[in-house]
Amino acid sequence: MPKTFFITTAIDYTNSPPHVGHAYEKVLADVIARYHRLKGENVFFLTGVDQHGQKVQQSAAKAGVPPAEFVKDITQKFIDLWKKLDVQYDDWAETTSDRHKKVVQGILQRLFDEGQIYKDKQSGYYSVRQEQFLTDKERGSDGEFGPEWGEIEFREEENYYFRLSQHKEWLLAYLENRKDAVIPDFRQTELRNAVEKISDNRQSGSDLCISRPKSRLDWGIELPFDKDFVTYVWFDALTNYISFAGYTVGEADSFPYNAQPSTFRDKWPALQVIGKDILIPAHGIYWLIMLHAIGFPDDQMPQLLVHGWWNLGGAKMSKSAGNVIDPFVLSEKYGSDALRYYLMSDIATGRDADFSEERLVERYNADLANSLGNLLSRTLNMVARYRNNIATRREDPAAGFGLVNKLRSDTPSPNILTEEHARLFSDLMDKQLISSSLNSALIIANAMNAYVESRAPWKLFKEPSHADLLDAVLYGLCESLRIMAILISPVLPRAAHGIFDQLNWKMELSGKEERFSLEDAEWGRLPDGHVVGKPVPLFPRIETSG
Ligand code: MSP
Repeated sequence: MPKTFFITTAIDYTNSPPHVGHAYEKVLADVIARYHRLKGENVFFLTGVDQHGQKVQQSAAKAGVPPAEFVKDITQKFIDLWKKLDVQYDDWAETTSDRHKKVVQGILQRLFDEGQIYKDKQSGYYSVRQEQFLTDKERGSDGEFGPEWGEIEFREEENYYFRLSQHKEWLLAYLENRKDAVIPDFRQTELRNAVEKISDNRQSGSDLCISRPKSRLDWGIELPFDKDFVTYVWFDALTNYISFAGYTVGEADSFPYNAQPSTFRDKWPALQVIGKDILIPAHGIYWLIMLHAIGFPDDQMPQLLVHGWWNLGGAKMSKSAGNVIDPFVLSEKYGSDALRYYLMSDIATGRDADFSEERLVERYNADLANSLGNLLSRTLNMVARYRNNIATRREDPAAGFGLVNKLRSDTPSPNILTEEHARLFSDLMDKQLISSSLNSALIIANAMNAYVESRAPWKLFKEPSHADLLDAVLYGLCESLRIMAILISPVLPRAAHGIFDQLNWKMELSGKEERFSLEDAEWGRLPDGHVVGKPVPLFPRIETSG
């Protein structure tokens, strides 16, 4: 059986409702998942919510609601948003669920039995926001802890520690041997530098505190070997990536990687989509070391795809700063496809971007309404007017090249340029470069609009001797639209269905994702004599008052 393509996202804290940054990450993973389904692969897409921890307990207390009730309410908001934005996942991780709890406790017990977890006393400065003790490493050049740590207090406490520093050399060697453990490259370099700084000496705070005393935090998973403590939220949350994929725990030493059920091994390892803020130390250090410590071989380590952030006026979006953008409002106002398009087209994967509603409208109007939408409506209008809705298969004899190796001032061949850009699209999608791949799909629309101008079908129609050329032009337009619909379908699923519906193509699969496949993006699959449908505005222009 072919291996499943497994993709995960970070699981969002349920301390406040989702903002556009959360939406970006889930849409990004959804687009990658849809692209792999488009290639005919079996896909397992896991996302969910991080329901435990101090942040959540504090927010619930502030709202005067028990944490369990509080998280239920916020969790529902995330679920509603994914439905609204067509984020189509295969399983949903909620860290308060029993199946997850069982795996977290099983792993803790195993590490404890193996002596990888020990009890110790620690005193020092503690960041309430980041839920961790701080060391001198975290001080800025002025000797102070920066604002990113939030409120700081002095604490003395007994806790359990995971021997993280013991695995430092392994992690360095692993990163040395696998150059694409983290993408993009510059993030792998950052991670490597951070790992090098891990001290081998536990006293400097290099081991990971994996417990919190119940006396100050009880909203978590109880340690299986000490009921006075709950599990540190990151240890709990990271485990979701395997607990919801069928990872199984048994007796302390009886669950080596190779003994895992095939349902788990068929999926694992995953491509894990995360934001830049949670690579170091959470995913790049804690998570990789956790997996190594429980026996995952190096060739079964996940790959981390690290995306950048959407900022607002150059500043970080945060609830406390009061500058969060509500994705519900945007999708209500402009539609799910318009928001997905903006989030995927106006940021380069791995880099930051500045969110702007004006840009959203601008890009929608330019790329979708004026270019692609216009091409669809003029094409269908012409096929109706000149050919009674019938597309007759002919080749444009005078056109003979594409655009990538373009010879200027001549007419490109619709089939060459479409296939050329479809290939480019795939190459870029395989590298998760979504905005560039979208661009290569939309270049086809621009080029075909120019092709309409240069071939001027309205003139050809008046000349009976040009009947074949007119057929070729109209067929070329329909066929390029059909292929473009396939290419844009991961980002714009609704529009892609709209184009197929109007082309009257694969109607029996209308509304279903199986309607699209990359294999079908081959020139000439639209049969001779195909009857197209009527044009309906696909991307009505967004009028702004400005
Ligand atoms: N609960 C942890 C993750 C645990 S994963 C085992 C967490 N949650 S979060 O809600 O704060 O963030 C969830 C994801 O959203 C992170 O990957 C984070 O980078 C991403 N984003 C949060 N704000 C963002 C932007 N403004 N822009 C893009 N992504 C951002 O961290």
